[in-house]
Amino acid sequence: MRLFLGSDFHVDYAQNLHWLGQLSRQDFTDDVLIVAGDLSDDVDLIQSCFDILVPRYKKLLFLPGNHDLWTARSGRGPSFDKFELLQTLCGGYGIETRPVAFGGTLIVPILGWYDYSFGEPDARIRRGWMDFYKCNWEGLAPADVAERFDQMNLIPDTLDFERVYSFSHFVPRIDLMPVRYPEKHKALFPVLGSARIEERIRELGSSMHFYGHSHLNRNKVIDGVTYINNAFGYPSETEITAKTILHVADL
Ligand SMILES: [Fe+2]
Ligand SMILES: [Fe+2]
Repeated sequence: MRLFLGSDFHVDYAQNLHWLGQLSRQDFTDDVLIVAGDLSDDVDLIQSCFDILVPRYKKLLFLPGNHDLWTARSGRGPSFDKFELLQTLCGGYGIETRPVAFGGTLIVPILGWYDYSFGEPDARIRRGWMDFYKCNWEGLAPADVAERFDQMNLIPDTLDFERVYSFSHFVPRIDLMPVRYPEKHKALFPVLGSARIEERIRELGSSMHFYGHSHLNRNKVIDGVTYINNAFGYPSETEITAKTILHVADL
C-alpha cells in the first residue's frame, strides 16, 4: 500500500478539477491519499473532489485549509460551523479526519491556523489578505483561532507504532521557506503558519510531515524530520509546483 500526498487543488479553477477527474480509476485502489486542504470554498466543489477521489483510493485523509473555511459565498456564517459541516461531510464519505493507523504507521492530522508566530503582518497584508474578509471567526483574532484548532487536535499515544507521520495545511516552521525567497513575498510569512504545529510534530515524534498552503513544493530535512510540500496550486504557479500527486511513502 502506497501513501500519496496532494494539497491546494483549488478546483475553482476548472482545469484543476479536470486534472483530478483524469486520475486513473484502477492504479490507486490499494493506496492512501492525504489531501492537506484548500480544495475550494464551495462545498459543492469540495464534494466534487470527494466524488472523484474516494472511489479511486482505498482511503482518503483530509483536513481543511483556509479556503475551505471561507463562508462569504454562502452567507458568511461562522467558519467553525463550516469546519463542523466539512467534518460531517467527510464522515459520510468515509474520509478520515482523525489519527489513523496503517499497520505500524500512525498518520496524524494537525489542525491549526496562523498565529503570527512567524512575524506580525504589515498594513498591506492586514488590508488585503482575503481570509480576513472571507472567513467569519466571530470576532476571534487569528491567534485565538489557532488556539481553538490546536485544542481540537488529537495527539494519541504513539508508543505502539513503528513510525508516525503527520500533516497540516499550514506551514509548521518558517525556515521551510527558502532563504532566497523574493523579498516582496516575505510579507506573507505571518499568515503562512504557526510554530504551534511544529510543537505538535515534535510531541508526536513524527518522522515525516506533509503540509500545504505555501504553494511551494519542498522536500527538506530539519532536525531529523522530513517536511514535504506537494501543493498543486493555481494554474499560473507552474514554476513552484509539480502539478501531481506525490508518492511519499509505503505503508
Ligand atoms: Fe492554497
Ligand atoms: Fe491555504
